[in-house]
Amino acid sequence: MPKAELHLHIEGTLEPELAFALAARNGVTLPYATEDELRAAYSFSDLQSFLDLYYALMAVLRTEDDFAELADAYLARARQQGVRHAEIFFDPQAHTARGVPIGTVIGGLSRALEAAPERHGITTRLIMCFLRDESAESALETFEAARPHLDRITAVGLDSAEVGHPPSKFREVYRLAREAGLKCVAHAGEEGPPAYVWEALDILGVDRIDHGVRCLEDEALVARLVADQVPLTVCPLSNVRLRVVDQLADHPLPAMLDAGLLVTVNSDDPAYFGGYVQDNFTALRDALHLDEETQRTLARNSFHASFLDEEVRAAYL
Ligand code: ADE
Ligand code: ZN
Repeated sequence: MPKAELHLHIEGTLEPELAFALAARNGVTLPYATEDELRAAYSFSDLQSFLDLYYALMAVLRTEDDFAELADAYLARARQQGVRHAEIFFDPQAHTARGVPIGTVIGGLSRALEAAPERHGITTRLIMCFLRDESAESALETFEAARPHLDRITAVGLDSAEVGHPPSKFREVYRLAREAGLKCVAHAGEEGPPAYVWEALDILGVDRIDHGVRCLEDEALVARLVADQVPLTVCPLSNVRLRVVDQLADHPLPAMLDAGLLVTVNSDDPAYFGGYVQDNFTALRDALHLDEETQRTLARNSFHASFLDEEVRAAYL
């Protein structure tokens, strides 16, 4: 089934095999002896316990070639899973903080993304995320550092540790991004409360909400999201691995669809959460008995919610 993936952190596609290969190439020592030992550490109690490992493993990403190889490996896997269009997050601050220039990150990712239509049959967009547990000033500095590269960036996003870091903290940088003609998205309502979803809508002016599963706790918020048909990029296997839900059978996705929300299915950090996007669809089908029709609706929603040009988008609907 052709689909678009709209919630995918490129750093979250770093498979253990590539991590060890890059570590060897770059002379980086990992605190794990083998790939299996690393994989055994993928048991998370919450978002923060995942983020600690996720940021630590990024130490292996150093050169433009590393970022290009990472993105190309994702695109090859994504195509096998039916992805025709991918809107890809990256976390510049996680790399610049380690001394990797932002131009190296964007240059490497763009090289793979520009080759993707011909090489993999996938169109792409790039979304630059700010780390919400870093300061508002750091986000502003990052945006200014990215200015020479904005022709390669479609949107800004907000990710990392959610609770205690409300969207309103990033009002100014989102204003600048909108002024520069970029689209806006933000993670909200993953571990954080419905109030953060309201802030993302009303203060940041986002075009989509990433996750948003906790919106169901607030009836008025659901009504607003339905009325405006704000897309929610839901990540079912991620929600299970990060203990946002106990098990897939308890996932609120069916209730979200029943409420009339514009839901899409995505993989978030597939190297860490046990599956790429089709694996998420298959797991949902098995655990929640989603029928063919519902799966087709979710795939259609993914194109509808994308930042593709209108004519291209219409051809998929
Ligand atoms: N960064 C990578 N994956 C994330 C997630 N699920 N939530 C917040 N930040 C993230
Ligand atoms: Zn995410």
